Amino acid sequence: MAKMWAGRFSKEVDAMVNAFNSSISFDGRMYRHDIMGSIAHAKMLGKCSIISEEDSKLIVKGLSEILDDIDSGKLELDMNAEDIHMFIEAELTKRYGDVGKRLHTSRSRNDQVALDIRLYLRDEIGEIRKLAAKLTDVLCTLASSNLNTVMPGYTHLQRAQPVTLAHHLMAYAQMLLRDISRLNDTRRRMNYNPLGSCALAGTTYPIDRKMTSDLLGFDGPTANSLDSVADRDFCVELAAAISLIMTHLSRFSEEIIMWCSWEFKFIELDDAYATGSSIMPQKKNPDITELIRGKTGRVNGDLVTLLSMLKGLPLAYNKDMQEDKEAIFDAVDNVKLCLETFIPMIETMRINPDKMRAAAAKGFINATDCADYLVKKGLPFRDAYKITGQLVAICIEKSCTLETLDLSEYKKFTQLFDNDLYEAINLETCVNQRNSEGGPAPESVKKQIELTRTLLGREIADE
Ligand code: ARG
Repeated sequence: MAKMWAGRFSKEVDAMVNAFNSSISFDGRMYRHDIMGSIAHAKMLGKCSIISEEDSKLIVKGLSEILDDIDSGKLELDMNAEDIHMFIEAELTKRYGDVGKRLHTSRSRNDQVALDIRLYLRDEIGEIRKLAAKLTDVLCTLASSNLNTVMPGYTHLQRAQPVTLAHHLMAYAQMLLRDISRLNDTRRRMNYNPLGSCALAGTTYPIDRKMTSDLLGFDGPTANSLDSVADRDFCVELAAAISLIMTHLSRFSEEIIMWCSWEFKFIELDDAYATGSSIMPQKKNPDITELIRGKTGRVNGDLVTLLSMLKGLPLAYNKDMQEDKEAIFDAVDNVKLCLETFIPMIETMRINPDKMRAAAAKGFINATDCADYLVKKGLPFRDAYKITGQLVAICIEKSCTLETLDLSEYKKFTQLFDNDLYEAINLETCVNQRNSEGGPAPESVKKQIELTRTLLGREIADE
């Protein structure tokens, strides 16, 4: 196929270079956004009398037909085309002759591609946000029914203090809230229209950038034409926001992997969301979560790809920037895939409250509460801490717990210990008393759930 820019060349481009140069295999997915952008551009050209109203209408009609035909599968993308922009313009010209050739007046592929990616990613942000909001909602619901499910809280993966499953789940809900707010920030900053920046230096035609901005739902035109065609900050920002979502999913996945091991058995995954082994008949593997953990590395790679691609580029457009798409599309595709799979897996997993409680009952996670008991009776915390440490050592030696150690042993250290100690170090008491703001007490977690739901509603209000 003869190149649109063939005029200056005396030879055809080498076939290998053609294939090397072409981006349609991966930018083809932006066909809808490319056509939407071109329709807005054509309407503007007509209204500003840069082309005739008649031509403008015909271009809009032709582009709408092409869109329908691609949607329905009647028109297939030609993988020999240089990119999606060239393909659609060529198709329009094939169908409508000279009129099609007027579309690219006062436009360059540089502002066109900058526009298309923005439009495409704006939609994708909406999708990712919906999924993240759904997961947050699922966590709130699950937390509501597990306010009293006591489990060990860990530091250094050592049992530390008692919490509840609800408290633990709501920690992830906070991360997701921040993720959604980051997506909103990214969207807000990128929602400016680069169209009209042309190749790099704007245009001599009397264009109306406000009109195309309004037509395409942007908050306004971008401020500087050089920046507009050279900027891919929004790809980096989105990739970073996605990397963090993946990081949160990956940490959660790691916990689920542990929780469904025989060592923990805190949960059991639904058969529909686990896999077996080809040789070991007893196995039920948490492949989904492991894949999410694995894909997190890959998505982090996408972020680094984008940053590295940009760091040495002089203004304005450089072909290096074509490499933005595979990286950001990969990040977008994978985070959606991970969220879509993770949500039903969480919704269907079975929780073993008894196993959680049993784990909480071992490991002396009420030792701080034992020390606090003495503090409340007047002993300085450091002294109380020391005595409790010695008591734990005795328990380890006697293979018993603080709850089952005889009061006489306690009294050997201080007469401040009395029978009410056992109530004070009871696991339920330990959780219920931790009712500070943000703490694991059921009342406190209930408030966290309410607040999370309110904030979530606010973050997705503009949907
Ligand atoms: N396929 C190109 C890209 O994705 C479109 C822009 C091409 N512009 C140019 N001056 N070669 O970056």
